[in-house]
Amino acid sequence: MNYEFILVTPEAKKHIALIQLNRPKELNALNLQLMLELKDALQNLDKNDEVRCIIITGNQQAFAAGADIKQMESRTPVDLIKIDQFETWDQIRKTSKPIIAAVCGFALGGGCELAMTCDMIVAGESAKFGQPEIKIGIMPGAGGTQRLTRAVGKALAMEMVLTGKFISAEEAQKAGLINRVVPDEVYLDEALKLASEVATMSPIALRLAKESVLKSFETGLQEGLYFERKNFYLTFSSEDQKEGMNAFVEKRRANFSGK
Ligand code: HXC
Repeated sequence: MNYEFILVTPEAKKHIALIQLNRPKELNALNLQLMLELKDALQNLDKNDEVRCIIITGNQQAFAAGADIKQMESRTPVDLIKIDQFETWDQIRKTSKPIIAAVCGFALGGGCELAMTCDMIVAGESAKFGQPEIKIGIMPGAGGTQRLTRAVGKALAMEMVLTGKFISAEEAQKAGLINRVVPDEVYLDEALKLASEVATMSPIALRLAKESVLKSFETGLQEGLYFERKNFYLTFSSEDQKEGMNAFVEKRRANFSGK
């Protein structure tokens, strides 16, 4: 697939792939093609053994200002059902490798939802997060009422969803929505630093650990604990478990092979 609206660097650094949303004039508004390209790129990177962590970013002005309103404006509910764009979003969510959103500028509507679909968020201090759909007569549709509420709690989520209020990177961090806030000039470097840390770990352990954390959003505690336990047992089938524990005993750095 040739990409028109994203740029993909499979090896931005060792074991780290970078996807840049690239519709700068439209503040990276997420049209259907961009989302299909993103899904395709993520599926390919997920299959690439060299890649252990993925970063999705935009530019200093915008991570993404939401779904493409111009493309959506004349849609009917039947159009939306037939297009079934959320199948694309579901596939993105199924990426097994850790994904970091590196956000600067606007992360609004679908842009905020995309960042929240990622596993961690690093933001530049000018980043603005919001679910402003209510201002255009609709409501969030790609997780904004669910992931945001789980991350920041009911009070702030209600306020953001019902008034369209934006929050700053600093507020987002205080509310538990994002991991780090850094000066705009270094937001991508900081995301790469975090990704480098992740990418030194065992890819199998990363996959099972990510799956287990995400499971906690879908199950009760006991079921989640059983799920975690099975994944924990499974890590002991890997060479990486032997290598990791052996390296600890031998007081050296582990070198994980992904086997
Ligand atoms: C299409 C968009 C867009 C969007 C910006 N643009 N956001 N085009 N869809 N979501 C376009 C503008 O039309 C304009 O192009 C150019 O990008 C620059 O935007 P301006 O508005 O001129 O910039 P500025 O004055 O700096 O304002 C920035 C902004 C504003 C505050 C981010 O653009 C804005 O409010 N955008 C919409 C945000 C939003 O409502 N997002 C939620 C969308 S619904 P032209 O060619 O006109 O100059 C959604 C639902 C998701 O996300 C559902 C699941 C998929």
